[in-house]
Formats: sequence, C-alpha cells, structure tokens
Amino acid sequence: MNEHPSLISNAKAPTELLLLDESSFEQWMSSASEAQIKLAKKQAFAGKSGQIAWIQTQDDICALVGWDKQKDLNSLGHLPFKLPEGQYSTNETLTELQLLGWVMGAYSFNRYKSPKRLPSQLEVTDENLRDRVLVIAESVALTRDLINTPASDMSPSHIESEIRALAESNEASFNCWTGDQLLDQRCGAIHAVGRASVDKPRLIELTWGNKNHPKVCVVGKGVTFDSGGLDIKPAAGMRSMKKDMGGAAIAIGLASLIMDRNLPIHLRLLIPAAENSISGNAFRPGDILATRKGLTVEIDNTDAEGRLLLCDALALAVEGQPELILDFATLTGAARSAVGTEISAMFTHSDLIAESLYRHGKSSADPVWRLPLHDPYNKMLDSSVADLVNSSSSGYAGAITAALFLNNFVDSSIDWVHFDLMAYNLNTRPGKPEGGEAMAMRATFGYLEEKYGKS
Ligand code: BES
Ligand code: ZN
Ligand code: ZN
Repeated sequence: MNEHPSLISNAKAPTELLLLDESSFEQWMSSASEAQIKLAKKQAFAGKSGQIAWIQTQDDICALVGWDKQKDLNSLGHLPFKLPEGQYSTNETLTELQLLGWVMGAYSFNRYKSPKRLPSQLEVTDENLRDRVLVIAESVALTRDLINTPASDMSPSHIESEIRALAESNEASFNCWTGDQLLDQRCGAIHAVGRASVDKPRLIELTWGNKNHPKVCVVGKGVTFDSGGLDIKPAAGMRSMKKDMGGAAIAIGLASLIMDRNLPIHLRLLIPAAENSISGNAFRPGDILATRKGLTVEIDNTDAEGRLLLCDALALAVEGQPELILDFATLTGAARSAVGTEISAMFTHSDLIAESLYRHGKSSADPVWRLPLHDPYNKMLDSSVADLVNSSSSGYAGAITAALFLNNFVDSSIDWVHFDLMAYNLNTRPGKPEGGEAMAMRATFGYLEEKYGKS
C-alpha cells in the first residue's frame, strides 16, 4: 500500500470539511453566526461545486466545500491538491465512487520529478470501504505509472519485469517467449512488429487462480513505442506514442485488481510487447506474415501494428478455451474520432455483455460505448496475395475494420470484448489527472464482479 495513503483510518485533529450544496448552504446559514456567514460570503461561497471557503468555529477552523452531490469522481476529485496539505474529515457519508475520486485525484507521477506537495488526506472510518477504494485506486495508479513512464524505461523487457513481479507477489505462474522463440512458437506477427528494436519483442503470460473456476483471458496491446515503423508517423502523431502500451497497462492493472480482490476466476493475462521501430531488418509494407492461427497477413501499413500483436495473442487466448476474452488496445486514431478521448470504444458480438458493460461504465464514471462489428466491411480487409491485409486502404470505419481484423482470430463460441481506447487524459479533470489513464478498467472490473461474484 502507498506510503502516503490519501484515505486514512484515524486522523489526528482533522480539519472538518462541511460539504454543502446550494440548499444545504442556505440551511447552514440559518444556524451559523453572523461572523461565519460574513466570512463565507467574503469568499464568494455559494455551495457551488469547486468553491471552498474557510470559516472559524469555536476552537478551530473549518472549510466549507461546495459540491453538487453527484455520486461520481467529480465530487471530491479536485480536493486532494486544492486543499492545503493536511488531514480532513467530512460531515457526509461518502460513496465508493466519491472516495475513489479523492484517491484518483491524489495521484501524481513522481518518478522523475519530486512532487511540490503531498495530497491531502481524508479520514474514512469504514475499514472495508476504505480498503476497497484503496485497492482499486492502487491498480489505477499502477496502470497510470506504466503508461506515464517513457519508452526508454518501459521497453518490452521492462514490461516483462513488471509482470514477473506481479506474478511473484500473487503466487501466479509466469512464462515469456522472447525474440526468436516467438518464431518457434509460430507467433510471426508479434516477432515481425518488434524485431527491429534492440529490446526484443515478447509474449508475456501470467496465470492465476483456481483451475476449476471459470476461465477468463485478458489481453493488452503492449507497443512500448509506436514510431509507425517504415510507414513512419509525423512528429505530432509520434509525440504521444509512449502510451501505445496503454492497453497492456490496463490489462495488467485489471489483473492486479482481480488478484487483489480474489475474484473466483481462473485468470490468464497475455501481453504481447514490442517496440514498433525502424532498422534494416524492420518489417515492410507488402511483406506477408505467418500468424499463430495459420492465417497469412499482407502488410498494407506498418503503422497498423497493434492488431498484429493482438492477432497472435488472441489466437493463443482461444487455444486455452476460456469462456471470456477481453482485450484492451490503443488501436486506432479512428476510434478517437468516433467517440473522442474520454470514452472507450467497445466491440462485442454479445448484446448482453455490451449492455452490462455499458451499465457498469456509467455507474463507475468509466464510460464505454459500443461500435458495430459490421460484417460487410470485412471486404475492406481482402488481400489478393494473402488471407487478409492488416489495414484497409479506405479512409472510413478505421476502428471497425481494425476490430473486424481481430475478429478473424477469435472463435465465435467464446465471448469476446475488444476495447479501443485512448488510455490518456489530455488535461486534468477532477479525479483524472493529465497523463496515463486506466480507461475501461473499472467498468470491466464491475462487470466481472457482478458476473462471477465477489469473493
Ligand atoms: N497506436 C496507433 C493508434 C493511435 C493513435 C491510438 C493515436 C491513440 C492515439 C496505431 O498503431 C496506429 O498507428 N493506427 C493507425 C492505423 C492505420 C495505419 C490503419 C491509425 O489509426 O492511423
Ligand atoms: Zn501504429
Ligand atoms: Zn500503435
């Protein structure tokens, strides 16, 4: 657990936060002293979200905090760095999501720069609730740290070390195929994407839980840097590509959460990790790759590399015959055009799962929106020399054709959900600081908890 948890069990002389909306502020005024009302008004306090005013009580000071009573991350998410450093308690009973807003808002990425200040701490006496919120926030922080770490310190071998450590601390089993071992294992697509990098491509696997529990496989795109390959990206597009392992980071965060909360499932985490780099031995447009599934893929564009990593990993996932496969990937710019940067695009054949994930996304302030696996668009992936191309030359429906590409590698008898997401906050919002973000992770965890039961 964090050395400086932002939720604490018993604070020493905490400063009280009086959470007031516009109407409870009116009520408060009816019992407050004239001096207190004057102070609140001088600070332009009206009970609106974002407002803070300091008042004097009998023997202490107290902060009036405006809020809109929304039961989501926004209610308290701005406070850990807006209130002065210190320990606080509140007058309200707070929900899991409100507390999560506080802890997620208390995150900062400190690996290369010491923080200017510590986040404020909030007293939460309900032990179960506090532990649960801290465990969820810990997984979010793990995912964010992995994404925020630049490619120089988050290469495929670093991802391997992270997963190895996670396996060791959870008594899970671990396996990794590296470099040419991928060719021995017929993972020609993962190998091709990553072979031009000095840090070798790999397929990393963690397995955990009771074999008799339902099998769930979680897969994440682990492109540690996406230069675009020989179809090199322009500078502006390449600038943010340290986050192209965001899907892997989310899959790792989700796995850690599943293990921490001891969900009764048999979990398999599969992370294909590679740097899409440029060198004399880089894969080229026009090359034809042999994949694990046996399908051949003609390379139309070396920048459509994520689906190549995922196709081998998904084929492997299917071989294990799980009842559910979930994959997470920063797969296409087109998904960002469709749903923007704050919503995860979701693809699945199952209406039931889509509906449930949508509901969990909504209730956990982690929104997901379904896009269709529109079968007729499969023709955009036809190749004259191989079973399919890796990217369609049409400028339309890029997120859908990417998902349809993946669909070729899963089995229709297995439930499958694919998330195409941003994994990054472009700016700071309450509970969502700028930088890496665990998008779709809490929505998915909520779904898994409901389906498989809490431990
Ligand atoms: N990693 C990118 C997609 C991406 C870009 C995600 C920006 C989030 C933000 C992916 O590998 C890529 O380059 N996709 C191409 C596919 C195209 C070549 C078919 C894209 O979306 O332009
Ligand atoms: Zn790319
Ligand atoms: Zn990519």
